[in-house]
Amino acid sequence: MKVQRVVLNSRPGKNGVPVPENFRLEEITLAPDLKNGEVLARTLYLSVDPYMRCRMNEDTGADYLTPWRLSECVDGGGVGVVESSLCSTCSEGDIVTSFNWPWQTHAVMTGSGLQKVDPQLVDGHLSYFLGAVGITGLTALLGIREKGHVTKGANQTMVVSGAAGACGSIAGQIGRLDGCVRVVGICGSDEKCKALVEDLGFSAAINYRLEDVPTRLKESCPNGIDVYFDNVGGAISDAVIAQMNNGSRVILCGQISQYNKDVPYPPPLSDETQENLRSKKITRERFTVLSYMSKADASLYELSQWIKSGQIKVLETVVDGIETMGDAFCSMMKGGNIGKQIIKISQ
Ligand SMILES: NC(=O)c1ccc[n+]([C@@H]2O[C@H](COP(=O)([O-])OP(=O)(O)OC[C@H]3O[C@@H](n4cnc5c(N)ncnc54)[C@H](OP(=O)(O)O)[C@@H]3O)[C@@H](O)[C@H]2O)c1
Repeated sequence: MKVQRVVLNSRPGKNGVPVPENFRLEEITLAPDLKNGEVLARTLYLSVDPYMRCRMNEDTGADYLTPWRLSECVDGGGVGVVESSLCSTCSEGDIVTSFNWPWQTHAVMTGSGLQKVDPQLVDGHLSYFLGAVGITGLTALLGIREKGHVTKGANQTMVVSGAAGACGSIAGQIGRLDGCVRVVGICGSDEKCKALVEDLGFSAAINYRLEDVPTRLKESCPNGIDVYFDNVGGAISDAVIAQMNNGSRVILCGQISQYNKDVPYPPPLSDETQENLRSKKITRERFTVLSYMSKADASLYELSQWIKSGQIKVLETVVDGIETMGDAFCSMMKGGNIGKQIIKISQ
């Protein structure tokens, strides 16, 4: 069987900004016979995620991430359907997911490395398993529950950066459902701001590309900031932290504004921001969703129920075809997505 796949063609150059030419499309032939324990799956949807930028480097800078190798097939989150199986836990027709799905139109994988999922959980929206009912939804929910200390009735204000992205758009909605009285989003376009306020129920939204973030934060958060879900780091986060209340909390989810730079994770903070954290006793601990996977099943169920009942709305940006993987990744890194960036590979 002939299949198409995407390999790493080159690593990002000196300025560190990834370009679609870092990826290359190839055609290969899959061996016709499965070995014991193997599964042939047709890829339905693939995910592109910010952490992949680290996998493009020779040294990822994180012990739990391996670098992608030049001229080898790229992998990441994927969902697909089993077409044939020599594995006792997978049958033809099963919907399966993996964090290490090859960027291929069909793939032979070890069945024991796949998670079988129930399509009813997402009412047939199988791409949600890569986003709102997958790793980015879990990151939002568990980040808030483990690090946010949101308390009903405590009159708290939450700010979310990267607010119109996959994690941010869900995090803001959970902040509201868990009891924050104000949830303010920061993101990179007026269209995104409109979606946050009109579709997702954020109290206010700030376009950091056009507006003065400190001024707009003062207007939107008159009682200061109690919880900050930080996806971006850098100058935006310095401005938020400067307006946080005593004893407040930063959920250190990600620092995407620094991912194209050669700095360790988490990137170093300015002296002023460190002093703000210290003097106001603001908690800012690193959060990694993979450390909480024992809570994944219950949390995914909770997310699915909120989505079914309409209490959480899911935004996605979907493009078609394996040949768009490189473009989709680079676009997501620059803010081309609203909600989760998804690539549809087959029906
Ligand atoms: N801790 C964990 O376990 C964990 C798990 C998953 C993801 N994460 C982190 O969560 C964050 C969001 O990931 P995601 O998958 O939900 O991606 P996403 O938010 O859907 O997409 C990335 C977004 O980042 C924003 N962005 C890019 N460059 C920026 C810059 N210089 N300044 C401000 N914003 C910028 C863009 O939106 P704008 O238009 O708003 O610029 C873009 O849409 C990332 O930092 C990621 O590493 C952490």
